[in-house]
Amino acid sequence: MSGDGDSRDAVLRDFLTWLEQNDPDGGWYLDEDPVEMPAPVATPEPAIPEPAASAPTAPDPTPPERAAATVAAAPEPVASAAAEVPGGLAKPRRQLPPLDLDSAFKRRAEIFVAETVGKIARQSGAGGLAADPYLVEAGGDKAAALARLKAEVLPCTACSLSGGRKNTVFGAGDPDADIFFIGEAPGRDEDLQGEPFVGRSGQLLTKIIGAIGLGREDVYIGNILKCRPPENRDPTGVEVEACEPHLMRQLAIIQPRVICCLGRIAAQTLLGVDTSLKRLRDSVHFYAGVPVMATYHPAALLRNPDYKRDTWDDVRRLRVLHDALLEQD
Ligand code: URA
Ligand code: URA
Repeated sequence: MSGDGDSRDAVLRDFLTWLEQNDPDGGWYLDEDPVEMPAPVATPEPAIPEPAASAPTAPDPTPPERAAATVAAAPEPVASAAAEVPGGLAKPRRQLPPLDLDSAFKRRAEIFVAETVGKIARQSGAGGLAADPYLVEAGGDKAAALARLKAEVLPCTACSLSGGRKNTVFGAGDPDADIFFIGEAPGRDEDLQGEPFVGRSGQLLTKIIGAIGLGREDVYIGNILKCRPPENRDPTGVEVEACEPHLMRQLAIIQPRVICCLGRIAAQTLLGVDTSLKRLRDSVHFYAGVPVMATYHPAALLRNPDYKRDTWDDVRRLRVLHDALLEQD
């Protein structure tokens, strides 16, 4: 195929993508009118295991060291927490539909993946995401460990947001997910329903996840904050400090292969940086050895549809990276 024909194809594909994303009968388009809320995804809740008869030792809520601070000089084999936990590697995976990628995008994505795989190897000194004590106690049963954590987090009163909530929004999805999406905080709809991303942003997120061949039930969706800030204002430092340990423990139970931060606040908070989202989108980052990508928050796409194209690139790269990481197993 000639280079010229290839770039003409790429332009045409881009245009078709734009049409598709803005197609009222599908794609990434939402009516201006309020849309009927989808039923929250029912996550099967396994029975919460009885705590051991002896006083259970409180797990250390300290977040794992920021990966960047602990890069060791000599790479060692990745200490995979899943490997230490019985049953941790037994996930049956569903065959995902292949993505239809144009060759220009595919080339760029392959470079991104090769670079990222190299960076992951160099991250091994960070020690990986240590298995959460509940995961170890549950013998690697992520659903059981997550249900136990959820039962603890729902009545949390660690910050003042608990006083104004209707519901704590713990998070939802596959306890054994390979991709963990992190948003900022619940909004009005999420507070009312106790489920993450169920309002207009959430409906768009569902479409975006669908556009890369996945369903909400295939991934895990959580937030930096579990309770709604008044008027959806930005989280305060005090709130983040109080709430972030819950997210750290969700990550330490689920052990995702890749994290995708939705929006500036989620990305900056998780990574402990104040870099702009535009710059954070440019490369892969790490949280305790786990690759972290950042893209626009779906609410930003609702306000600014021109960001959809970049988001489309980001999530396709996310899917390509996800596929490459699973292929290594
Ligand atoms: N916005 C978020 O960041 N999280 C939600 O759960 C909903 C909207
Ligand atoms: N605007 C969109 O909505 N999508 C694109 O891909 C580009 C511009």
